[in-house]
Amino acid sequence: MSTEPLQVVILAAGEGKRMRSRLPKVLHPLGGRPMLQHVLDAARRLSPSRLAVVIGHGGESVAARLDAPDVAWVLQERQLGTGHAVVQALPKLEKRGVVLVLYGDVPRIATGTLRSLVDAAAENQLAILTQEVDDPKGYGRIVRDASGRVTRIVEERDATEAERAIREVNTGIVAAPFAKLEAWLAGLGNANRQGEYYLTDIVAAAVAGEFPVAVRRPQSDSECLGVNSRRELARLERLLQMDRARALLDEGVTLADPARIDVRGELSCGRDVAIDVNCIFEGKVSLGDGVKVGANCILRDVTVGAGTEIRPFSLLEESSVGENARIGPYARLRPGTELAADVHIGNFCEVKASAIGQGSKVNHLSYIGDASIGRDVNVGAGTITCNFDGAAKHRTVIGDDVHIGSDVQLVAPVTIGKGATIGAGATITRDAPAGELSVTEKKQVTKPGWKRPKKK
Ligand code: UD1
Ligand code: CA
Repeated sequence: MSTEPLQVVILAAGEGKRMRSRLPKVLHPLGGRPMLQHVLDAARRLSPSRLAVVIGHGGESVAARLDAPDVAWVLQERQLGTGHAVVQALPKLEKRGVVLVLYGDVPRIATGTLRSLVDAAAENQLAILTQEVDDPKGYGRIVRDASGRVTRIVEERDATEAERAIREVNTGIVAAPFAKLEAWLAGLGNANRQGEYYLTDIVAAAVAGEFPVAVRRPQSDSECLGVNSRRELARLERLLQMDRARALLDEGVTLADPARIDVRGELSCGRDVAIDVNCIFEGKVSLGDGVKVGANCILRDVTVGAGTEIRPFSLLEESSVGENARIGPYARLRPGTELAADVHIGNFCEVKASAIGQGSKVNHLSYIGDASIGRDVNVGAGTITCNFDGAAKHRTVIGDDVHIGSDVQLVAPVTIGKGATIGAGATITRDAPAGELSVTEKKQVTKPGWKRPKKK
């Protein structure tokens, strides 16, 4: 490979009308990240010396949302064509090396494919990425002469009947030496059916100047698919998810159905992790060895220790779970939850901003918020930490080996001493001493002869 600098221009000024959206097309998420982010990442893997993105309509929000300090944002005020778009970016580039042009709406492009194109351009050629397709509709067609040499690219709307039958199409992605590209672009006209400055016309310009044109093919059939509509976005999402599912299977993860998992972030798994159907992983999720995730769970920014089981229908966010724990079914861990090893959180329990020590159990219908719970604590069914007094949040502290009966309200701020027992139905408003039983006594009364009202 050449030591000349590589510079990348990403075209993203198109309006994306067919998305029927207020959000600029390249900000629509794919696999949990803006479409353009995928293209930026592909570009960055080539370590370019300059990275320019051409934006148009709604472009300011694109720049703001992506927070990419290494990107030179270029405004193309009017969308006068792909050639015109590249011209806008030239002042941001060094006048040497190779320029690679990518599309902001072609997010699955593979780095290997781009490398082969850049390498061809570094050998002083115009390198174009083309593909044979069954249905060439909408694409620019690659026109070759009798000896099979590429002579030009013709856009569908400018093509003759015979040219339209050509099934070799332009993916749009090209690489060329800077000086040549600059010269060809300077010579572009817009005398075509769309009245646009076509980047594709540089091929005819190269041929006219007897500059070699190299053709490269993508590594896979689907990586050059673009997004113009929500249908295409949905299709690409499925393709990307299938890529991710296959990668997990190859790493040794068991997936009940690779078509029914969505990874919208980074999922890292230890050995022998098993994931049942319809689970969603967002942000950074790490699952230790032997972790089992039941059906219909959502995990966002969560760390799960080895041997832990997340049972069906659980939602875990910004939390960490220790080893050999058991969460769910139907558990909700909200941000700031830290569970030690061997903790059990059962059905219809919500835990927020709380630390729970090793071996402790909160098994049924409870709310634990802003609490510190020690080891080997048993929290009875229906227990609630009353952490909010209407103005501020307060903490509940529960020592090791505490037993809390069912239906207890712990009115924070309150501390339950080590080894204490709290009787069922208690409303605890003052600190409960260690080792003792605390109850709030309510008298059971029977009303003799009372009659239940009857419907008339
Ligand atoms: C382009 C190619 C066509 C190729 C097809 C592949 C040209 C003239 N045609 O056609 O040969 O088969 O892509 O999908 O290049 N853009 C701008 N500014 C503009 C116009 C476009 O930034 O003024 C951007 C768009 O946002 C998009 C990309 O360039 O990311 C391609 O534009 P699009 O209008 O989709 O090009 P096509 O007509 O599909
Ligand atoms: Ca297009």
